[in-house]
Amino acid sequence: MVASGARTAAVVGGGVIGGGWAARFALMGWKVRIHDTDKDAPSRIEAVMARARAAMPGLWDVALPEEGEVSFHDDLTEAVTGAEWIQESVPERLDLKREIYAEIQAACTEGAIIGSSTSGFRPSELAEGAARPGQIIVAHPFDPVYLLPLVEVVTGPGTGDARIERIRTTLRDIGSHPLFLRREIDAHVADRLLEAVWREALWLVSDGVAETAEIDDAIRYGFGLRWAQMGLFESYRIANGEAGMRQALSQSGVALKGPWSKLTDVPEMTEELVETIAGQSDAQSGRRPVEELAQIRDANLVAVLRGLKARDWGAGRLLNATDRRIGGAPQGLDAMSLTAPLPTGARAVPLDWSDHNGHMTEHRYLQAFGDATDRFLALVGCDAEYIACGQSFFTAETHVRHLAEVRAGGQITIDTQLLLAEGRRARIFHRMWESSRLVATAEHMLVHVDLQSRRAAAPPSDLQERLGRVAKAHAHLPAPEGAGAAVGRPIAHKGAEEAK
Ligand SMILES: NC(=O)c1ccc[n+]([C@@H]2O[C@H](COP(=O)([O-])OP(=O)(O)OC[C@H]3O[C@@H](n4cnc5c(N)ncnc54)[C@H](O)[C@@H]3O)[C@@H](O)[C@H]2O)c1
Repeated sequence: MVASGARTAAVVGGGVIGGGWAARFALMGWKVRIHDTDKDAPSRIEAVMARARAAMPGLWDVALPEEGEVSFHDDLTEAVTGAEWIQESVPERLDLKREIYAEIQAACTEGAIIGSSTSGFRPSELAEGAARPGQIIVAHPFDPVYLLPLVEVVTGPGTGDARIERIRTTLRDIGSHPLFLRREIDAHVADRLLEAVWREALWLVSDGVAETAEIDDAIRYGFGLRWAQMGLFESYRIANGEAGMRQALSQSGVALKGPWSKLTDVPEMTEELVETIAGQSDAQSGRRPVEELAQIRDANLVAVLRGLKARDWGAGRLLNATDRRIGGAPQGLDAMSLTAPLPTGARAVPLDWSDHNGHMTEHRYLQAFGDATDRFLALVGCDAEYIACGQSFFTAETHVRHLAEVRAGGQITIDTQLLLAEGRRARIFHRMWESSRLVATAEHMLVHVDLQSRRAAAPPSDLQERLGRVAKAHAHLPAPEGAGAAVGRPIAHKGAEEAK
């Protein structure tokens, strides 16, 4: 099913990068039309989509919009007509890209944005001879496009402020981070940096200083970890302590003059060097197929990104901002129907919540249910502000039942029934669903406490009133199956046989 009112993107060239764009747009709820001249493109894109479905939605702690429809079109005109954003991702050949823009511009509206994934060309080169040069911009992403937020944007003099604003908001809408370049240069900013490291790496292999695996270790055990969270300048600032950046620069000035870098020089790609590098790379990684390596990479990236998210730092900060944008303002209790359990959670299962059995691991159920408890308590007035004033609920007892498997990328929702609110105690029952399938339940006994004395204390009257209101309404609901059950006691529930 396609979400009504979905926006439309067209992807021209559905390889590694086009497939990644298609996944990002579709998983953010856009309809995606793909044009590729290769008949195998649909099956390749389906493989990328499957990887993206497992990895991307779980980056956020809210449910993403319903996945948009992805369609394939032999006819380029059909693919781009009416699309709001057209992303060109054909091979890196200027003549081919220009030919394609001519075809696109003959079919698309003037308002559409034509982004090029080009790693190296400037917008002025791409748009030379185009009917409407200002419409063509560089929107350079990074593989995997559905996980890495950076998109380098290079515009031209004809782009115009209104279009620039639309580029900014559209890329933010799909969870990306647009980095606008101040002026055009070959290979933009990030590929200039990567090219420098790549050249040095080729020299190190060519000179027999290090093998491919050792160069990769030099990055991933050290500065690569640092770069993921603070980049280059902020890391060096710390490295130089309180002496500051000026001092750091005067010191590195000396080092820069030394023969540390062969940057301007490129090793000749002789057959021998190609063989050396390819052989070392086979020895390093050849035992795993590329698809397996891509899945490992995705799982690692999700763990890093979610780690940064918990720290609200760097790319993780962007994920939190996107959570707030997609989640919107939380609905208050007064606006909710009390004739059914209250909705207290909706999200995808993150890739790093999955265990060796290929399904959501035990402690993540507790995390998801714990978040639902927080949401329930916030609804009745025990929110962050209330807690900051010195009172809260502590969980005294928990019983989780696992009724069916959920895998990474699975969309789960949680609802909550209040079984009892009496004095200092509240007993709640969560149900976790994947679509209409009940996958787990959790029952918690909560005790209201004074945070100063750390002892149980009766909630104030307004909190008691709200809890009482919910309890009274929920008393009319059937008692949930499994409520009050002890561990090991058989439960008359058809899902029980599927328990993990
Ligand atoms: N691979 C990367 O890491 C990376 C990263 C960022 C940007 N880019 C840029 O993205 C662009 C695409 O790179 P890629 O790695 O996805 O290449 P790719 O070879 O994987 O994909 C290119 C796709 O374009 C299709 N194609 C070729 N001619 C076409 C035509 N006339 N009409 C429609 N489709 C056509 C091919 O069938 C193929 O599916 C390049 O400009 C590249 O510089 C690549």
